[in-house]
Amino acid sequence: MTSRTGAFRAFEHAGWQGAARRYDDAFGSLTRQAIDPLLDAAEVRSGARALDVASGPGYVAAAAAARGARVTGVDFSLAMVRLARAQNPAVKFRTGNAEALPFRDGSFDAVVMNFGMLHLARPERAVGEALRVLRAGGRYAFTVWAKPEEALGFGIILDAVRRHGNPEVPLPPGPPFFRFSDARESEVWRFSDPGLLFDAFLAGTVRTQALLHAQSVQALEAIRAAAARAAQAFQTQDSVEIPMPAVLAAAAKPEK
Ligand SMILES: C[S@@+](CC[C@H](N)C(=O)[O-])C[C@H]1O[C@@H](n2cnc3c(N)ncnc32)[C@H](O)[C@@H]1O
Repeated sequence: MTSRTGAFRAFEHAGWQGAARRYDDAFGSLTRQAIDPLLDAAEVRSGARALDVASGPGYVAAAAAARGARVTGVDFSLAMVRLARAQNPAVKFRTGNAEALPFRDGSFDAVVMNFGMLHLARPERAVGEALRVLRAGGRYAFTVWAKPEEALGFGIILDAVRRHGNPEVPLPPGPPFFRFSDARESEVWRFSDPGLLFDAFLAGTVRTQALLHAQSVQALEAIRAAAARAAQAFQTQDSVEIPMPAVLAAAAKPEK
């Protein structure tokens, strides 16, 4: 690991340790929308040995267990693993790094990762590790967000930072956030109030939270107000509904 990738990983790890609970509150209803297509793409069925990588609060692992799969969730944040265990006591969760999985070669029929890829310092390593722990013919699937022009929750916050703050604040350098984001699936992020989109990013994320915290107090208030105004445009009768399309990628490990 270079000092650059090590710094990014440490930054993400510290962030997730602090954001676990608020991530669960703010993002849970959103990221859960991808679970069924993700599990279907990886053919997670009753009896399958399944691995949920970057399992966070354990939504995907819990859904795989409900399908009858023999599932393990793995996440590098102990705070996330504790939260997942508390919320899903019947499911196995352990700490471990997606880029160096603590499992033997060929030990799973399916490996999935829901919105974990964009937090990794070396995503190719994580794909290689998924392939290593899959049996021949096993299936791999992951999701990432579409680009911010389409996943408007990101678009609103990043645009408000560009207009009212400084997008070039120094952050530990990581791979491009939207690198795998070209095809799409539709998801909608619902809030009871347009101000809650900003709060979700300020409390429940890592890289975007650091970007926001690095703004001046005055800029941050302008960004908060601009984000609320932009989110207001998506007000429906009952809630604010912000488009957040995602991309699902799936593949099978070759038989030979
Ligand atoms: C955006 S959350 C996704 C959580 C969950 N999969 C979901 O569907 O909502 C990203 C998760 O990736 C985990 N993570 C980030 N880098 C990781 C790594 N190198 N190894 C394992 N987990 C990692 C974080 O701790 C966090 O729980």
